[in-house]
Amino acid sequence: MRKGVMRPGHIQLRVLDMKEALGHYRDLLGLIEVETDAEGRVYLKGWTEVDKFSVVLREADEPGMDFVGYKVLNNDVLDQLQKDLVEFGCNVEEIPAGELTGCGRRVRFDSPTGHMFEIYAEKEQTGKWGVSNVNPDAWPRGLTGMKATRFDHCLLYGDDIDGTLKLFCDVLGFDLAEQVLDENGDRVAQFLTASMKAHDVAFIKHPEKGKFHHASFFLDTWEDVLRAADLISMEDVSLDIGPTRHGLTHGKTIYFFDPSGNRTEVFCGGDYHYPDHEPVTWTTDQLGKAIFYHDRVLNERFLTALT
Ligand SMILES: [Fe+2]
Repeated sequence: MRKGVMRPGHIQLRVLDMKEALGHYRDLLGLIEVETDAEGRVYLKGWTEVDKFSVVLREADEPGMDFVGYKVLNNDVLDQLQKDLVEFGCNVEEIPAGELTGCGRRVRFDSPTGHMFEIYAEKEQTGKWGVSNVNPDAWPRGLTGMKATRFDHCLLYGDDIDGTLKLFCDVLGFDLAEQVLDENGDRVAQFLTASMKAHDVAFIKHPEKGKFHHASFFLDTWEDVLRAADLISMEDVSLDIGPTRHGLTHGKTIYFFDPSGNRTEVFCGGDYHYPDHEPVTWTTDQLGKAIFYHDRVLNERFLTALT
């Protein structure tokens, strides 16, 4: 049952070199650079996103993800979910308003898979970039690179995905939209949604806690994904796989790496989910097709290159 979580709102990624990272996230992906805070973190957003920012880059010695945040409907929801998270047994920490510039009070919590998440109710709304909210044009001039429209989801690897499923579904009100079951019927992958999207976050079972697989950004069309592939070659960016289609969610996709080794996806399409839909199930004997629908063969790097 939905509990008032609306959407993925932001992700903070660790990068080794900010200048190189901006070459990736701003110039290649085409995210809009919003500002740099007093700690040197750089904020960006996709042009269709109404809130001030959705990606925060922090320079660090190791790549990976610091946390991902979800925006909830209002402060009443935030207060209720904070209590529910404590009751569930999460380590819950309150981050004061303004710690991320333009973002209200955040409630940070850990998951059984060892990832850090946050929920928050308020963030400065600056509107879509380059188009008015009244009689809006179709798209703004001046976009660069892949013209990524929004931060869409992330895929995370960790051990206790059953515990994290309980946390996301029972406490936060996400639905299980899609899953992969092994020959014993144990879940090895889960795609969770708080909306109509095929997934707002996904988890793969993995012996280590707290690993990051990719952050994903939405493009409008398959032609845009093919154009992204051209740009990846033109810029000699490290390619992981694609362009191809997933069996899971049926999104059309390409994966590549930022200069720090964090994986990025851009994709289009994908299935939709309503709260009365039964989860879609894939079985591990069809895992090749589930992950790469055309090749039907797993790329070892896709399963093992994590930050
Ligand atoms: Fe993805």
